[in-house]
Amino acid sequence: MIEYARAVRNHAYAPYSGFKVGAAILGRSGRVYTGCNVENASYGLTICAERAAAARAISDGEREFVCLALVGSGEGFTYPCGACLQVLAEFAPRLNIITVNKAGQTRKNLLEELLPQVFALNREEFNGG
Ligand code: THU
Repeated sequence: MIEYARAVRNHAYAPYSGFKVGAAILGRSGRVYTGCNVENASYGLTICAERAAAARAISDGEREFVCLALVGSGEGFTYPCGACLQVLAEFAPRLNIITVNKAGQTRKNLLEELLPQVFALNREEFNGG
């Protein structure tokens, strides 16, 4: 999974930050969906690698995510930003997240450890019970 994330990071479009990110999501089906960050001159329109990967998975009909590998730039570990954690939690609140630093060391966390109080709507309540 880390290798998939590394490979897709090469496609990152990050001319503004110079910080390239690659993400790979393993779906329950066994298929892997990759994504890279896509920046924009209007900075706020930037799409993170994790959300790019998630959009590919969902678009392919894959809604059960088993694990996500993330590879950033620089020396340290890159963790998903808060917005990406919220988006991933929609489909996999207990997602396994693996991140790797430049030295090749890995760290693993559950999404719920990184975003313990996720925002979620109680759909049953909204649907009248
Ligand atoms: N970025 C990601 O792709 N994923 C994250 O979880 C954090 C940030 C990207 C967005 C931007 O292109 C660059 O990293 C610097 O913030």
